[in-house]
Amino acid sequence: MCGIVGYAGYHEAAPFLLAGLQKLEYRGYDSAGIAVFSDKVRTMKSQGRLATLREKVDAVGGIPGTLGIGHTRWATHGAPNDINSHPHTSMSGRITVVHNGIIENYIPLKEELESQGVVFRSETDTEVVAQLFDKLYDGDLVGTLIQVIGRIRGSYALGILCTDYPDTLLAVRKDSPMIIGLGEHENYIASDIPAVLDHTRRYYLLNDNEIAVIKADSVELMDTDRNPIQRDVYTVDYDISAAEKGGYDYFMMKEIKEQPMALRTCIGSRIDNGDIRLDKIRLTEEQIKNIGRIHIVACGSAWHAGIVGKYVIEELTRIPVEVDLASEFRYRRPILSRNDLCITISQSGETADTLAALREAKANDVHVLSIVNAVGSSIARESDDVLYTMAGPEIAVATTKGYSTQLAVLYLLALKFGKIRQTIDQKTAEKLMHAMEILPDQLERLFADEEALKELAKQHAAKDHVFVIGRGIDYGASLESSLKLKEISYVHSEAYAAGELKHGTISLIEEGTLVVAVATQDQLYEKLVSNVKEVKARGAYVVAIVKEDCTDIEGVADQVFYIPKTEDIFTSTLTVVPMQLFAYYTAIERGCDVDKPRNLAKSVTVE
Ligand code: AGP
Repeated sequence: MCGIVGYAGYHEAAPFLLAGLQKLEYRGYDSAGIAVFSDKVRTMKSQGRLATLREKVDAVGGIPGTLGIGHTRWATHGAPNDINSHPHTSMSGRITVVHNGIIENYIPLKEELESQGVVFRSETDTEVVAQLFDKLYDGDLVGTLIQVIGRIRGSYALGILCTDYPDTLLAVRKDSPMIIGLGEHENYIASDIPAVLDHTRRYYLLNDNEIAVIKADSVELMDTDRNPIQRDVYTVDYDISAAEKGGYDYFMMKEIKEQPMALRTCIGSRIDNGDIRLDKIRLTEEQIKNIGRIHIVACGSAWHAGIVGKYVIEELTRIPVEVDLASEFRYRRPILSRNDLCITISQSGETADTLAALREAKANDVHVLSIVNAVGSSIARESDDVLYTMAGPEIAVATTKGYSTQLAVLYLLALKFGKIRQTIDQKTAEKLMHAMEILPDQLERLFADEEALKELAKQHAAKDHVFVIGRGIDYGASLESSLKLKEISYVHSEAYAAGELKHGTISLIEEGTLVVAVATQDQLYEKLVSNVKEVKARGAYVVAIVKEDCTDIEGVADQVFYIPKTEDIFTSTLTVVPMQLFAYYTAIERGCDVDKPRNLAKSVTVE
């Protein structure tokens, strides 16, 4: 989704802005722009890739000035063209704004301003902020901003320049992330940490309805009554190289390969002496014993992790689990009780729908425990408890290590709850903990199949449809495998509960249709083999993913990939890996931009 950067210092702002925007490219965008202030504000924008904007800037020999803002836009209001790109400047040229989020009441505000003679250039909701700011401006920068945020509704992270204040950058946020990077005689704003990492590791997190007044040598934080705010300085604790490609062509491949390490960190630090240590959560043993129902709420891959989590939690704890798409949960008047537990899952911790679902649960007095990767993100901060997935920064739009570490935390939770509720005995718990501890090594072994998967991708890259079938937990994992293929290679793919095929979808199977069959559940194996025979009989080319002792499938499927033997409830961590690699190489074969698939954003901060 959109990205914001801003600079106040003594060096040229434009190179920082362009480099910062490049670090935010992974969030997804379709146009970009920067505005730099010296004697006046000079703005340059461009539809398409950042490289085009850079060429434009270079063509005029750069844009002079030591104060500036920049933006990568993911179009919501108005087409992705040069005019609708940010920054937007008011009619008089005094106020220039970059904005992430959506101004929900922009239409009445626009009409009001137009009736007062304001002429708008773009179709965006953002321009309303620039024009309104200018209209209300009385010489008091912060005072005007307070008036503006009193008039606008919706979500926003705003970076603002005013030509009357040649040394000042203004920032404010509500429901959209914003950090203030702290440098030496220069300070920055950004919607995400990687944008400033080359310059500083120290930053403030801006909370909702907080204002930051940023100059080269000072940062003032205040609330909307202008009361000063003292804030702890956060320090980025991961290595800068974690946010770099490190020799890989794409972040996605780097992140696939980082999964063993991410799982070791996530699991290893929590299994200790025959027990599971769940950080410092507030949820008490008494509360855990009394949980009536668990509601898992998430979007996309995190929702897929939740589906697998449901099987595992119900198996180990016998607590009923409902899994909701966050975008549905908030509008379906969910039935919530005080002894329910809501688990929200989010890699970015900023997904607008998940955040809204969390608030819905809290408004109903339900304890919210979140599984989050981004430390200090909005979801992490608003939850009653947080379990971090500790995967390190994930840059590729398609999640890989984010998903597998979410699964790991769900396994840990299920085990811990099962022990506390005595639905599993210590011996079983120890067996499961051991199985979890060796999962990272087992996952690593799967990389040996990379060449074969690359070859498979070459053979099938031209196909238009792929089906991924499974039963039980394997169906949950199939959903994620199918999404990987869809989002980065643009191949239409459907995940199907294998037993459902014959109720309609099997009519789509024809000669040569690629069907991936995931069959790792002992109890369901034979049934899945029958489903494979059904699609084979209709001409499908079947690739099976099974546990290493199921060699008999070779007589049925056209190609087989084996995963190391593990507990049936943990197989999703392994079965998804061949499909991550297959999706990656299919995307490469089809000439797709693996890390930045069309129309997608890493962090979906609008509804
Ligand atoms: C995953 O590959 C997708 N990019 C997407 O489905 C993602 O999982 C979803 O948008 C949720 O994001 P979150 O985990 O940051 O909340």
